[in-house]
Amino acid sequence: MATLYENDVNPALILDRKVAVLGFGAQGRAHALNLKESGVDVVVGLRDGSASAAACRHAGVSARPIADAVSSADVVMMLVPDEAQAGVHAVVVDPLLRPGSALLFAHGYNVHFDLIHPRADLDVLMVAPLGIGDQVRERYADGGGVPALLAVHHDATGDAAAIGASYAWANGHARAGIIETSFRDETETDLFAEQVVLCGGLTHLISNAFDTLVDAGYPEELAYFSCLHEVKLIADLIYRRGIAGMRESISSTAEYGDYTRGPRVIGAGSRLAMSEILNEIRNGSFSHELAGEFRDGMPVLKKGRAAARGHKIEQVGARLRDTMVGFQPGKDED
Ligand SMILES: NC(=O)c1ccc[n+]([C@@H]2O[C@H](COP(=O)([O-])OP(=O)(O)OC[C@H]3O[C@@H](n4cnc5c(N)ncnc54)[C@H](OP(=O)(O)O)[C@@H]3O)[C@@H](O)[C@H]2O)c1
Repeated sequence: MATLYENDVNPALILDRKVAVLGFGAQGRAHALNLKESGVDVVVGLRDGSASAAACRHAGVSARPIADAVSSADVVMMLVPDEAQAGVHAVVVDPLLRPGSALLFAHGYNVHFDLIHPRADLDVLMVAPLGIGDQVRERYADGGGVPALLAVHHDATGDAAAIGASYAWANGHARAGIIETSFRDETETDLFAEQVVLCGGLTHLISNAFDTLVDAGYPEELAYFSCLHEVKLIADLIYRRGIAGMRESISSTAEYGDYTRGPRVIGAGSRLAMSEILNEIRNGSFSHELAGEFRDGMPVLKKGRAAARGHKIEQVGARLRDTMVGFQPGKDED
């Protein structure tokens, strides 16, 4: 996989174009502010009555109705939630984006799963930051950047990849590395990792371990600290030093338990489940299921959110976090 840095990018390609960032949420705010500070002519496109209009004003970013922003732009970055993108594309982007413009995404989901079919005259690209919006903004403001994935779905002008790299430069990604990939690989690996490790895997590992200790009669506070709170300490070590490096920092007792007990928790059954989950992503059955979930009014999401809020680990956690001196609930540390 090729990785681009500052010397590989032509900043003029984005500095010479008008950019519309659609949405001012987690990623939209970061992109709009970063692009503006890089010297790009950028406007935020907001829906009628948007709750974010005041936040744009406060941040000093110009905002316009979404249709105006799209019709005056050469480059549109789609940063509304994934489930809203097909509607915004059909109603605003498809009819109003000028011929020969570039349409950018920060996640390949809608294009890869054929929920959006962009016009053939458009460059269709992905610049997907490898970090949450606050990190994209904070690293840029500190003079650095988070890495990003760059992919081209359709190259109508012959310049698609170079325009994408230039946009990524303006968002600070050339400072950390712009990694070339495809819509398919980004979408499938992203879904797999969030389902198996980052969200589905980790949360179920933590809550099942917590329940096992509490059901066995141990104090809830002890169960919370050992099974949830300390995850950050280990994750930080793995992030900085890798898995083998983390193991050099823990006791031999912990390391022995890791080698001998870990495979019993995540064993052949889990590997089988991982393969099945990957197949469901690749053959489209997951995206089909998710479309039905949104069509039906999100019953699984609503039920899951209520159950998660009602779980004992949340009450214990809220109480303990409140009493921890120096704990900053709003801060995403790295
Ligand atoms: N979250 C992350 O850190 C992250 C990381 C990597 C990639 N991504 C990708 O980045 C993209 C944006 O995700 P996000 O998490 O930044 O989104 P988000 O924070 O949920 O986006 C919120 C913004 O979208 C607007 N919006 C919501 N529904 C809309 C609709 N129907 N029509 C018009 N505007 C609408 C909201 O408008 P109001 O202000 O009016 O409410 C708000 O400005 C997605 O493709 C996502 O996969 C996200």
